[in-house]
Amino acid sequence: MRAWPRFGHAQAGPAVIARRIWEGRMAAIVTDNAGQYGDSRKLAARARLHSQYSVAETGWFPWVAGQLPLRTGDHVLDIGCGPGWFWAAAVDQLPQALALTLADLSPGMVDEALRRCAPLPFGALRGEAADATVLPFVDDAFDAVVAMHMLYHLPDPGAAIAEMARVLKPGGYLAVTTNDIGNLRALHELTAVFGSDPVDPAGAAFGFEDAENLLRAQFGEVSFARHPARLRITEPDDVFLALTSYPPGDKASQAQLARFREAIEAAFARGNGVLEADKQIGLFLSRKARG
Ligand SMILES: C[S@@+](CC[C@H](N)C(=O)[O-])C[C@H]1O[C@@H](n2cnc3c(N)ncnc32)[C@H](O)[C@@H]1O
Repeated sequence: MRAWPRFGHAQAGPAVIARRIWEGRMAAIVTDNAGQYGDSRKLAARARLHSQYSVAETGWFPWVAGQLPLRTGDHVLDIGCGPGWFWAAAVDQLPQALALTLADLSPGMVDEALRRCAPLPFGALRGEAADATVLPFVDDAFDAVVAMHMLYHLPDPGAAIAEMARVLKPGGYLAVTTNDIGNLRALHELTAVFGSDPVDPAGAAFGFEDAENLLRAQFGEVSFARHPARLRITEPDDVFLALTSYPPGDKASQAQLARFREAIEAAFARGNGVLEADKQIGLFLSRKARG
């Protein structure tokens, strides 16, 4: 299902490479959620790259919204909702009177998402600070659970998927989005100055293959669609801000940051003032069996 990117580990197969990278990256991507997501500022530095520079027939949030099989009045849980950007962007495309529960490990994110979504035309709206691995909801509570770009933060994403399945009604579905390991490779190559592998750390932790395997193991079935898109970036500073918004770039020394700026400038010079990078970003859907 995937074409593995080549990044110089000639002796190792994909699973071995992924495991090595995962072991090296796990500490950074699963720790310090409060530092990274106490509020939406660091996430916004990365989101800016996508909102400003994406080349796609349909933007990411509208594309996801177009694939969610929601019905009027459905009870929906968004776990790891972040600042609620998805719902603000997608509400016009969605059926009416959804009963939406916004949940996130970060109380600051829940507050921001609630403020953003309160004026929107949902049938009901509530927020909960909650850990995806111990959801504070009864069994069979939701028609749909959405977990967008959050499972790569969990040490045991399979445990969270089991929880999501538990709170789904029979016949309900889980929508998961994530990146693959080769996402935005032309950007991640620049982080070599921090000692990083030239891969998307999120995709390395929970990429397409991981999502497919874990969802199939839990639900017995899974479908996948990849969002066709790339970045065409024209402002070097936006690359700098995005890639220094998370570890290890956020803790880099002044010398490393200076070398990083040089690497970015050289990449833009090679592209005649433009840096292009393909996205590997997709949506997985699984349905909970009835009875
Ligand atoms: C990259 S953001 C994604 C936000 C949003 N889903 C989106 O796609 O725009 C990841 C979010 O997952 C949340 N998160 C991380 N670990 C979590 C956990 N164990 N349970 C619930 N939320 C978690 C973070 O606080 C953060 O808001």
